[in-house]
Amino acid sequence: MTTLTFHELTDLADPQSADSALIPTIHELVVQQNLRSMGHTDLVTPLETRRQAMLGSEYTTRLSFVAERGGEVVGMLHMSLPQKDNRSLVYVDTVAVDDDVEILDALFRLADEVARKNDRSILSTWEPHRGEPEAGDPNALEAPTGVGRIDASEPLPALYLKHGWKLEQTERYSVLPLPAPSDLLARLHAKALAKAGAEYEIVHWQDHTPEEFLEGHASLQRAMSTDVPHGDLEIEETVYDADRILYFEKRIAEEDRGYVLFAARHIPTGDLAGFTRIEYAKAYQEPCFQEETLVKKEHRGHALGMLVKTAAIAELAVVRPGVKRLHTWNAGENSYMLDINVALGFEKRGIESAWQKKLS
Ligand SMILES: CC(C)(COP(=O)(O)OP(=O)(O)OC[C@H]1O[C@@H](n2cnc3c(N)ncnc32)[C@H](O)[C@@H]1OP(=O)(O)O)[C@@H](O)C(=O)NCCC(=O)NCCS
Repeated sequence: MTTLTFHELTDLADPQSADSALIPTIHELVVQQNLRSMGHTDLVTPLETRRQAMLGSEYTTRLSFVAERGGEVVGMLHMSLPQKDNRSLVYVDTVAVDDDVEILDALFRLADEVARKNDRSILSTWEPHRGEPEAGDPNALEAPTGVGRIDASEPLPALYLKHGWKLEQTERYSVLPLPAPSDLLARLHAKALAKAGAEYEIVHWQDHTPEEFLEGHASLQRAMSTDVPHGDLEIEETVYDADRILYFEKRIAEEDRGYVLFAARHIPTGDLAGFTRIEYAKAYQEPCFQEETLVKKEHRGHALGMLVKTAAIAELAVVRPGVKRLHTWNAGENSYMLDINVALGFEKRGIESAWQKKLS
């Protein structure tokens, strides 16, 4: 067997570089990985978006390596290192041709090495699973949160365990088939509107936050990093301010992506009380992604989550008329969010396991 070699991609900023020329091959590895694990490619970043998405920024350093064997690219390791917060953490993404365990094993070792070199002590990642083993299955590994099981005898979980990673949490992966029935949306929206009462109004925008809401958008985004259930995953509050929102929107545009955002504004204080943001890649017509949804603690219990979600989903039919599927991931124990999603018609399609490894 020819030996594996690793090559760091240091020249991705130049679209004409030899490193950039490897991106279509990496993309194809990811496409094949998604077809194996999910049976579809909705979650694959479009090729034309990938190079931009792989570039680092003042907020996140991104390191990419390819594994080569006999001159062929057979695997990739991508690592994201937050720079303004979570400076112990590094997010890890691996892919290998045919999920080859020997290649992944080498990429896991490389990830440890790169993390140490960069003074990062916690490695973090997510892994998709189409199904869950039954409770009582001798191979079932349950998350410490008590919600969600994976089959620990499958090659990937077995590899994580071998390398000292720990399963910390699971998320439910669900999809809402679109267009959603308009009578259901209208009924849920009217009910939420009645519960919200006269103190809240809906505001919304697409791709660019109006200046008056920049700080409000940033404060909601900060709360997202602490208020969402994280089990025992080590995650600190993300540093988010108006500049970072503007930076996020610049990147969205550069990556040929877009978003719609609906927020509930508390009229007496002018505060943005809650929001939901749906994102999409412009190169794909059919899939879109339910990203953030949050209501600030002091505004909960007024059905604002349902209010903004029903409004945003209705708007999607206008701004993305070809859209067919809205993908989302929610912590298995997040009953408040899951209740809203189930009422909206989201269907469970699998789970995602959240893993962390602490380097000694
Ligand atoms: C999901 C979420 C937006 C729902 O908030 P909401 O729209 O205010 O929820 P509802 O109005 O439907 O609340 C129904 C009841 O649950 C309570 N509730 C809602 N979210 C709660 C939470 N996270 N913790 C404790 N109680 C909560 C409400 O106070 C209300 O109680 P009441 O009936 O006694 O008045 C909110 O829980 C939240 O922001 N969670 C944190 C962010 C998050 O997890 N987002 C999803 C990421 S995938």
